[in-house]
Amino acid sequence: MLKGYEYFHKRLSKDTVFNEKYFIELHRKTFNKLYNFAGKYRNVNISKGYSTFCQVKYLEQTSQEIFNKFGNDNYLKNYGDKPKEEFARKIAYYMCELIALHPYLELNGRTIRLFFEMIVTYNGYEYIDYQDALELEDEENKFVKASIECMTGKDNKMYHIILNGLRKSE
Ligand SMILES: Nc1ncnc2c1ncn2[C@@H]1O[C@H](COP(=O)(O)OP(=O)(O)O)[C@@H](O)[C@H]1O
Ligand SMILES: [Mg+2]
Repeated sequence: MLKGYEYFHKRLSKDTVFNEKYFIELHRKTFNKLYNFAGKYRNVNISKGYSTFCQVKYLEQTSQEIFNKFGNDNYLKNYGDKPKEEFARKIAYYMCELIALHPYLELNGRTIRLFFEMIVTYNGYEYIDYQDALELEDEENKFVKASIECMTGKDNKMYHIILNGLRKSE
């Protein structure tokens, strides 16, 4: 995982485009060695707790819709000079969309967080500090509680996690 952060961090440039292809590459390159399904969207329906993620038959289409919208937002590439709150709002919105999509069989949480780490770095921020949000075991932690809210289109809990963890680089 750390290798994944390093690999993609080193390759960030002005021309990096945070599109669907990039998102899939994060999963593929980071988990290739340990996971047969690296870089592949799932082909079974899955749920966690009471949450059922995007149905397989809508997965590709929904992913494209999310990334089209993301593209219209210029992949959040121009938030370096904007208020942190505005950036955190946008991140929380798209993070929730991807959490509800849950496109991979495994490693969704880590891939989605890695994706936004690259985007915040691009905009002159440090990696988001999730320390507090990821502290407790799965079902108990704030990130999962915020994720459960994402399932009903509410991103306020996620917004506070992001805002709390966002810090400008020196
Ligand atoms: N009950 C739930 N409802 C909605 N989302 C959840 C729930 N439990 C976990 N999640 C989301 O799924 C992620 C875990 O998915 P998973 O594919 O196992 O990724 P990882 O292995 O990287 O943690 C969590 O980080 C959270 O965003
Ligand atoms: Mg997991």
